[in-house]
Amino acid sequence: MAGKTQFGSRIGLIAATVGSAVGLGNVWRFPAEAQSNGGAAFLLIYIACVALLGIPVMLAEFSLGRGTGKDAVGSFVSLAPRKKWWVAGAVATLASYLILSFYLVVAGWTLEYFWQSITGELYAGVGTEGMETNFRHQMDHLITGSWEPLLSSYVIIAINIFVLMKGVQKGIEKMSNILMPALFLLLVFFCIASLTLPQASEGLKYFFHPDFSKITAETVINALGQAFFSLSLGMGILITYSAYYPKKTNLINTAVTVSVLDLSVAILMGMIIFPAVMSFGLNDESLEGATLVFVTLPEVFASMPFTRFWSALFFLLLLVAALTSTISLAEVATAFVCDRFKLSRRKGCWVVMLPLVGLSSLCSLSQGPLSHIRIFSQNIFDFLDTVATNLMLPVAAIFTCLFLGWIVSKKFLYGQLTNKGRVNIKISAAVIAIIKYAAPVLIAVILIAKFLE
Ligand code: PHE
Repeated sequence: MAGKTQFGSRIGLIAATVGSAVGLGNVWRFPAEAQSNGGAAFLLIYIACVALLGIPVMLAEFSLGRGTGKDAVGSFVSLAPRKKWWVAGAVATLASYLILSFYLVVAGWTLEYFWQSITGELYAGVGTEGMETNFRHQMDHLITGSWEPLLSSYVIIAINIFVLMKGVQKGIEKMSNILMPALFLLLVFFCIASLTLPQASEGLKYFFHPDFSKITAETVINALGQAFFSLSLGMGILITYSAYYPKKTNLINTAVTVSVLDLSVAILMGMIIFPAVMSFGLNDESLEGATLVFVTLPEVFASMPFTRFWSALFFLLLLVAALTSTISLAEVATAFVCDRFKLSRRKGCWVVMLPLVGLSSLCSLSQGPLSHIRIFSQNIFDFLDTVATNLMLPVAAIFTCLFLGWIVSKKFLYGQLTNKGRVNIKISAAVIAIIKYAAPVLIAVILIAKFLE
């Protein structure tokens, strides 16, 4: 089935792939990481990680998907039918499913914040207690409460079902064609607004200030981890989406375009957040992931004119970024069950999405009523995050590279990268060398380093 389904246009396939890559990692992880790891110095290392490792690994996944036209498991099977390499695809598919179960919850939080910005409820308590305390209470209520977070993650699940059922062109591609340009417009709009704030230049200095003394081996590890997460590598997403790329798609151009757009969003986010936050007193805590987005930024909005307008617009931006990522995650499992069990798309969607109602409820409740359930001293949400992101994702990426570099015939990878010898002849040799040697070794080193941490 997947072999015949295709994206309708180049813009559409790029919008969909960028939609997966751009997510909460760009918004709340990148700016804080960059700032605390040496600003512009980190940025340079990050760019090197994306260019030297991220793009080649992305190309390995693209080649596998586009070359076989199959889902993340089927693509391994079709190239090595009697071998066990499909396990790598299965690990990636499972990783994306587990990530989806908590990503749906976070997407739900952004929906709650969006809604409460529109109704004004988010700001109703401003003035009755200290600003930070007020928003911390709000965050507790919206994240650890029992029914609001559940309900909003179910709404996200419903949207996923709606889009996925419509299929690749009429669902995923159409949604991305509308939402991604909207997201970029919102970003540029916010950036202009933020840069006209009185303390804008201090904020930019704070973000970009190159501090090479902060660069250590750990910085490099962090930069590479961030690059892989941000580019959605190792989760079967890029294999699945590229199975819908037409044969004529230039894979190297596509990988570079997607990576540059993903990086631009991360940098723009920093240029929005730091000038704004700088103006309203910043400490290291105010930068931490969820706190930055759900406490610090509402404080900033509350101190600005047109509070609800800015706040609603910002959480809309976040919602769009999160939503397109959930769809890409859900498509991995959907393509897999449809292909493997020969289900119609409609049935496949239900099979994939219904268990997520239970899984995401568990993740959501583990923030509040079920927080006493601990697995290796983490709650369910954090445990899934650690296992899927820090363990399964790098393992899948390593085996994907080894598979393409060593098991599949040389002609296959070369043919995909050069479109049968027509383009990118010189670059392809370098990319293949990275896929064969550098990528598996370096990812393994990082995996081990993380474990020893
Ligand atoms: N790439 C996304 C981001 O930067 C994260 C993501 C992870 C997306 C897993 C899909 C799947 O936030």
